[in-house]
Amino acid sequence: MKILVTGGLGYIGSHTCVELLQEGHDVVVLDNLSNSKEEVKDKIKKITGKEVKLYLGDMINEILLDEIFTKEKIDAVIDFAAYKAVGESVKKPVEYYTNNISTVLVLLKVMKKHNVKKLVFSSSATVYGNPEHVPIKETDKTGGTTNPYGTSKLFVEQILKDLYASDNTWDIAILRYFNPIGAHKSGLIGEEPNGIPANLMPYITKVANKELECLSVFGNDYKTKDGTGVRDYIHVVDLAKGHIKALEKLEKEKQGLYIYNLGTGIGYSVLDIINAFEKVNKVKVNYKIVDRRPGDIAECYSDPSKAKEELGWEATLTIEDMCRDAYNFVKNKMIS
Ligand code: NAD
Ligand code: UFG
Repeated sequence: MKILVTGGLGYIGSHTCVELLQEGHDVVVLDNLSNSKEEVKDKIKKITGKEVKLYLGDMINEILLDEIFTKEKIDAVIDFAAYKAVGESVKKPVEYYTNNISTVLVLLKVMKKHNVKKLVFSSSATVYGNPEHVPIKETDKTGGTTNPYGTSKLFVEQILKDLYASDNTWDIAILRYFNPIGAHKSGLIGEEPNGIPANLMPYITKVANKELECLSVFGNDYKTKDGTGVRDYIHVVDLAKGHIKALEKLEKEKQGLYIYNLGTGIGYSVLDIINAFEKVNKVKVNYKIVDRRPGDIAECYSDPSKAKEELGWEATLTIEDMCRDAYNFVKNKMIS
């Protein structure tokens, strides 16, 4: 198939491009480089020996999207293009709602015009808000999001459900990612946040690499096994493979709206991650316990059994793989 990957030079998008190319798909990328670098295109080529076709531009640009669909004969779209920083979204709600919702409306309009109705959408476990229980199933309650980023994902899910209700010839997979970490084993592509990282693994790698002094562990008084927050960390390559399986499902079923959790089903605490990272990389991670971070929840991990049953997908890489590959990417960046 020929797949349009919006935001395809970003963290999850680039890993998904690699998997798509390796599966023999043609890949067209649209990215405005707001959170990525053009050189990622060359890294993808280095890993796969194959090129993606790149359009530089913004998904809000209907004329550009129309041109892409006219020229490229796209079969399906995987939409990664969005802003994703929770804290920033609180300060810039209009920018977040515009970039995470208005762009999708433009995309859907142009897809409809060109009769391309297969879409895989990047959603997030954040749509579950503060979960009533763990592990979380797709049928569990959504809502109660505490920031514009989370709310933008919830809104787009609703838009897609409404769209499907209005026209059931659409073929849509909503993928709710848990906590993607790690990097491609080549060390060529990975997560490159601007400035001081807000998320756990990028912060740990910088402390281990002596770019930052000390990790602040946000609270050790949660009702969890060691008091620190518990999450479902998933290797980004496993996550990328989940998109291939979702596309296969859409290809097979022809029409429908499907929602899947993509996680491992295992909850690790912050201290588990620090310990695994130190052990596998043989490096010390300085940390101190500080107050809870506002808005954080105690525990969040998935029940991934629906994806296993319906997509034949399950995560196979371990927490050690995630810690090793994340650090390998950072070390590799320093020498390249
Ligand atoms: P990322 O920032 O690394 O990648 C997003 C890419 O989209 C970047 O290359 C950016 O330049 C591009 N982009 C943003 N807005 C655009 C626009 N208007 N037009 C064209 N390109 C645009 O983020 P990521 O971690 O790869 O996340 C990908 C998707 O997955 C996002 O939708 C994000 O919300 C979702 N998601 C991410 C996580 C996570 O923890 N990383 C968790 C759940 C969901
Ligand atoms: N944490 C620390 N110190 C840090 C950073 C994080 O102790 O410097 C802790 C947090 O308190 C939490 C855990 O590490 O317990 C994970 O925090 P992250 O910031 O890495 O991830 P979150 O679970 O808060 O959120 C992430 C994404 C969201 C997404 C959510 C679910 O940032 O966009 O996963 O997919 F919605």
